[in-house]
Amino acid sequence: MSNDELYTGREQTLVKHFILQKYLERFAYIVGSHCDVLTYVDCFSGPWNARSEKFEDSSFAIALKELRNARDALAQQRGRRVQLRCFFLEKDRAAYAKLKEFTDGVSDAQIETRNSTLEESVPNISDFVRRGGSNAFSFVFIDPKGWTGFEMETITPLLRLNPGEVLINFMTGHIRRFLDSPQEETQDSFKRLFGSSSFRAKVQGLEQLEREDAAVEEYARNAKAIGGFNFGSSAIVLHPEIDRTHFNLIYLTRNLKGIEVFKDAEKKAMAVQESARADAQQRKRVARQGQSELFDSQELHDSTHYESLRNRYSAKARGLVLRALESKRRVSYDEAWILALSGPLSWDGDLKQWIEEWKASGHLEIAGMQPRQRVPHRGEENYLIWK
Ligand SMILES: C[S@@+](CC[C@H](N)C(=O)[O-])C[C@H]1O[C@@H](n2cnc3c(N)ncnc32)[C@H](O)[C@@H]1O
Repeated sequence: MSNDELYTGREQTLVKHFILQKYLERFAYIVGSHCDVLTYVDCFSGPWNARSEKFEDSSFAIALKELRNARDALAQQRGRRVQLRCFFLEKDRAAYAKLKEFTDGVSDAQIETRNSTLEESVPNISDFVRRGGSNAFSFVFIDPKGWTGFEMETITPLLRLNPGEVLINFMTGHIRRFLDSPQEETQDSFKRLFGSSSFRAKVQGLEQLEREDAAVEEYARNAKAIGGFNFGSSAIVLHPEIDRTHFNLIYLTRNLKGIEVFKDAEKKAMAVQESARADAQQRKRVARQGQSELFDSQELHDSTHYESLRNRYSAKARGLVLRALESKRRVSYDEAWILALSGPLSWDGDLKQWIEEWKASGHLEIAGMQPRQRVPHRGEENYLIWK
């Protein structure tokens, strides 16, 4: 089935699956180059609203395909034997039956499934990951429907799996609407989600995007600290038809390379997202007006919202790097790079451009480069010196 058939009307899922697929494609190859076992955990497997009979539009099938591709490429190109292990969890009985139908047909990976809630399955998952042995690396995907079922305390053992990394779907759209709920029960559930009540002070008095950013940043900061991760970033997934954030995909890792791969997936996904939103918005207009439009959806698409977000977050990232330079005067390129890329919608090319601008205006020099090196590199003790 084509992507149109699989994802029309749920383009946010297309973007989520694109990021997952693109990330895992490179992750599995890179990690599989030095680890003998890859352990993939999907805590909220579904299938959920899937249209493909082969589950091509389900995260578990997408992930398994990428892991297999990497394993086969590593075997062919490097003679490496990498073992794949997956734990797929699903609470709903009907969805679980479909998941089981899929996994029963898999014989080239070790797969464990469980028809239960995450709250009741964390020890099983931890045990499964441990059984992968000392040369295994785990990737945990947490993709819930709302903001319950993955409370910070619940997922703490998963965040602490080391070596390992996580991708969490933070349902910004849902959360935004209820953050101010006067109901004690809702406030308590947020406290459990964030792992503390500190989020309240962080979002108080803020409006719209500022408020969403503060909530996402606070959640990511807590999860990063609890899991002992060194680095994190996030991707914004927009509503297909309206100019609002649907959810943020929060990625946490202990390795800088992971950020490079995740940001690359995010950047490619943003082009896919704008194209899918153009189609979705045209469909909505045509349905409302009852007549088709003369021009192609891509030509008619108003990308002002996306552009304004892109400007907003790249300016924010630029500000972070600039403040570090002004206060410390000497900042390693690695540090500047992670500051520039720890939020959504700012990329490696942006940092390179700011560096060129600061150099041209006489504010910046670069130290530690080889005689013929033109631009700073990560991992080579290159330093940005602010004058
Ligand atoms: C958003 S869907 C997952 C979609 C899937 N990851 C994908 O991208 O194809 C969330 C799934 O989690 C299941 N679920 C909801 N609460 C759960 C819980 N507490 N523990 C485990 N699964 C849960 C739902 O039945 C649903 O199938």
